[in-house]
Amino acid sequence: MSLSIVIMAAGKGTRMKSRHPKVLHRLAGRPLIDHVMRAATTLQASGTVVITGHGAESVEAFVAQRLPDARCVRQMPQLGTGHAVQQAVPVLPDHGTTLILNGDVPLIQADTLARLVQACGGERLALLTIELEDASGYGRIVRDAEGAVQGIIEHKDASEEQRLIHEVYTGVMAAPTAWLKQAVMALDNCNAQSEYYLTDVVASAVAQGLPVVGTSAPSETEVLGVNSPAQLADLERRHQHRVAQSLLEAGVRLGDPARLDVRGSLQCGADVEIDVNCIFEGSVELADGVRIGSHCVIRDAVIGEGAVIHPFTHIDGDGHPVVIGAGTLVGPYARLRPGAELGRGVHIGNFVEVKNSRLADGAKANHLAYLGDATVGQRVNYGAGSITANYDGANKHRTVIKDDAHVGSNCVLVAPVTVGAGATIGAGSTIGKNAPAGQLTVARAKQVSLSGWTRPNKAQKSG
Ligand code: UD1
Ligand code: CA
Repeated sequence: MSLSIVIMAAGKGTRMKSRHPKVLHRLAGRPLIDHVMRAATTLQASGTVVITGHGAESVEAFVAQRLPDARCVRQMPQLGTGHAVQQAVPVLPDHGTTLILNGDVPLIQADTLARLVQACGGERLALLTIELEDASGYGRIVRDAEGAVQGIIEHKDASEEQRLIHEVYTGVMAAPTAWLKQAVMALDNCNAQSEYYLTDVVASAVAQGLPVVGTSAPSETEVLGVNSPAQLADLERRHQHRVAQSLLEAGVRLGDPARLDVRGSLQCGADVEIDVNCIFEGSVELADGVRIGSHCVIRDAVIGEGAVIHPFTHIDGDGHPVVIGAGTLVGPYARLRPGAELGRGVHIGNFVEVKNSRLADGAKANHLAYLGDATVGQRVNYGAGSITANYDGANKHRTVIKDDAHVGSNCVLVAPVTVGAGATIGAGSTIGKNAPAGQLTVARAKQVSLSGWTRPNKAQKSG
């Protein structure tokens, strides 16, 4: 049976009080609509239609990048959810089932959608519903004395009595496509908001004798909609709570499950410890026994067994994962940027920045240093305050520091330059030429002392 999916994403999201389209606001680091599209793609529908309108260009650009097979249809102006589905009518087939999703209900799960599609079976109108303690703002499910669904009444149109109903419509329905097409085309906008409500198709189904079934959602979190910054923040916390619970269940020790943010995928081995207030973004892998100190921000990184990341460290692979070897120590207050690759037993200390550089096993840069576009050999000791001058104002050049070299404090290595194996660079040197292996190279002004020199006196004020 062919399945079509319609994702409604044209609304302005007035209550967000934002210039950006609501469905592009982020939850766990990803736009709301991205969550919805991910759940939808698991159903392997024959076609997906996204209704765009407010901020259409940016929403369409995002959809094209994430789901190139999806078709965007514009709704201009936006006259309600029923009007939104009307725009999809010309591109929907005449058979099968159509699943309608709200672009602002991000945590919907794929298996819930599959159950709803099954409940529809191409011949019933299936509504995903939930009982909410605080149902305000939602469309209420109106049932008759026998419990049969009669319709959905929007909050703004509901009587005092109807507002006492706790069972609400989640914004997700599955319907026989051919029936849905005629039902949305017949909608009117005689209601409190003068909008074409998609939810009015329920009463049409009842009138036409099409069976209506309510399928209840397994959890409230899954179906909460985002209409305001407060709801977005609430849903973010609920989502992060779930992520933290599943990490705990997998054996990860968290300093405080309420103070963890995962905005991407986090894979952890055994005996991983994560202290409070850490943020993980993109794709992060922590091998067995990794310890992450408090207040670290880690994005796109692969961290080896037993490595320790001390507090306040910022690791940002930005698509070129930072690789950290087993037993390596990083931080506190270190910054690892794209292309940083640390071997085993490396030490990166406080206020050390590493970018696009490879440090072999046992290399150390313990204090206040910069390594950019460098290849650093085994056991190299890179002194406090030293930097690679890798950029000449136009191009970037590489610095090579071979095994067992010792770079003293406060050196400038002007790339391209090579420091030979076992070489020692005297503190305060500016090295613009290759330093030979095994020798001491010093490049700084000779120290002089002037005898008979006296400090100048303060000029006397005249008058
Ligand atoms: C809608 C439902 C309500 C349900 C709630 C669940 C209707 C009339 N009401 O209300 O019963 O309880 O969702 O979250 O459907 N949109 C368009 N074009 C428009 C208007 C909206 O594409 O002209 C899109 C929005 O971008 C959004 C979705 O449809 O993704 C829902 O719109 P919204 O205005 O948030 O509806 P609610 O008032 O929340
Ligand atoms: Ca909504």
